[in-house]
Amino acid sequence: MARKAFVGGNWKCNGSMADIQRLTEMLNAGEYHDNVEVVVAPTMLHILPVMQALKVPVGVSAQNCYFEKSGAFTGELSTEILVDAGLKYVILGHSERRHILKETDEMIAKKTKKAIDSGLTVIFCIGELKEERETGKTEEVCFRQMEAVRAVLSEEDWKKVVVAYEPVWAIGTGLVATPEQAQETHKALRAWAAEKVSKTVAEELRIIYGGSVKGANAESLCTEDIDGFLVGGASLQPDFMNILKVTH
Ligand code: G3H
Repeated sequence: MARKAFVGGNWKCNGSMADIQRLTEMLNAGEYHDNVEVVVAPTMLHILPVMQALKVPVGVSAQNCYFEKSGAFTGELSTEILVDAGLKYVILGHSERRHILKETDEMIAKKTKKAIDSGLTVIFCIGELKEERETGKTEEVCFRQMEAVRAVLSEEDWKKVVVAYEPVWAIGTGLVATPEQAQETHKALRAWAAEKVSKTVAEELRIIYGGSVKGANAESLCTEDIDGFLVGGASLQPDFMNILKVTH
């Protein structure tokens, strides 16, 4: 089956109110097609103004959530709060949360299950460190990260997952994976899903690539098993619109 392409713009911890206005104006001036789902993830403070300013079919995602419903969890946002505010997506498992904020596979799995149970679509990030790639551990690491969520998800739950393969060495470094490197890992991830979950899930699962994607390299990365992108730096620039144009 044909999978609908997906492009996410992860704004991370960036942007002033003036930047947010400039970015929403840029998005509002774009052309959108039914074959590409477009989502942006502003900071938690910018989510609502972005949602209010967008006049085009661009979804808005949170960059994190918590697995408890409510209560004394200072600084956290529950999935109930996100859904109540009208959000439909959340990014989980991003390497910056795994490696800087020390989130564990188990914690990310709990958040993923809670988000899906609340009706959110999860942009679930995985990926290996530079030394893990250099020592031939790419698949081992990615499969371990996938297995943590597989253990808590039903087959039905996978309809609400977009996997973002983001080699950590390619994030924000300008060192984009080659189309061959990325395709090889995406293919292995799809084979893993066929074996560990089901053939249907493997065929339908969108696996997007992230790590130094730009307008100039995006088209070459649209290979058989790459269903779109999670874009960091370039999503804060007019170049994001070039990525949207060439994604298929
Ligand atoms: O979430 C996005 C990724 O971390 C990619 O970031 O495009 O700046 O390399 P980047």
